[in-house]
Amino acid sequence: MNADPRAIGVFDSGIGGLSVLRALQEELPHESFVYLADNAHAPYGEKGEHFVSERTHAIAQHLLTRHQIKALVVACNTATAAAIQGLRAQHPTLPLVGVEPALKPALALSRTRHIGVIATRGTVASEKFGRLLSSVQGEATFVVQACNGLALAIEQSTLPEQADVAQSQVLHLLQTYTQAMGRFGQADGEIDTLVLGCTHYVFVEDALRQLLGPGVQLVSTGEPVARQTRRLLAAAGLLNSPTPDAGPASTQLWTTGERTGLQAAAQRWLGLPPEVCRAVDEALSGA
Ligand code: DGL
Repeated sequence: MNADPRAIGVFDSGIGGLSVLRALQEELPHESFVYLADNAHAPYGEKGEHFVSERTHAIAQHLLTRHQIKALVVACNTATAAAIQGLRAQHPTLPLVGVEPALKPALALSRTRHIGVIATRGTVASEKFGRLLSSVQGEATFVVQACNGLALAIEQSTLPEQADVAQSQVLHLLQTYTQAMGRFGQADGEIDTLVLGCTHYVFVEDALRQLLGPGVQLVSTGEPVARQTRRLLAAAGLLNSPTPDAGPASTQLWTTGERTGLQAAAQRWLGLPPEVCRAVDEALSGA
């Protein structure tokens, strides 16, 4: 049996991709992970597509060169929309998984056929999302809402000194954006399914449930992405099987910015100790 102990790279603009990392750790307990948060350049959602694409390429290259990753999970909808095609062209042999708003899974769940989608402005404006939406148009009514500022407020809510203000900002934004989308509920014409099209939004699921009521289903992508990663690794013969002499799987977290927010989020949501989080000690060029 093959045993490939090299790590799987996972990246996002900030802490959002930790929601995907959590699903990956559950699905692939024998694998090691190197997570990179591009906090110095976050949020991506309101930057241009070119900028996000450049960052994504630079980070992929860094993870390959410095950490010898065997596969890459782009745990960010905005970066996937901007750059996954280019990344596939540049790294044709690297197993690569992106994330996109789960419109098709939502179709399978919705009874009222009214589906809400919240995502960053970058994702909503992208050609890739436009194509995805066209492919399901006609099967349900999709109400799409770009949520400027929400990912940033979620990032800030993890910083102890800003937590209270940022938490009220998160609630205010959630209220404003969901109200603008129309009525949520299970009656005909109401939105009964909400797609979380940004990996950060998974961390405000509880607040969304309180706001929208228990009847509204929230759909995210962590688990399907983890299963797809497993499939790709298995097909390429790159899974790490535990062997008696191999060390335990590890998780390293890196940030291009300040460590505090990532440390707090990783401790709160993944139970990881602060020392697994380090700052990237070189300028990651590319943007
Ligand atoms: N977490 C990212 C996403 O899934 C982007 C958040 C941001 O940086 O704006 O789209």
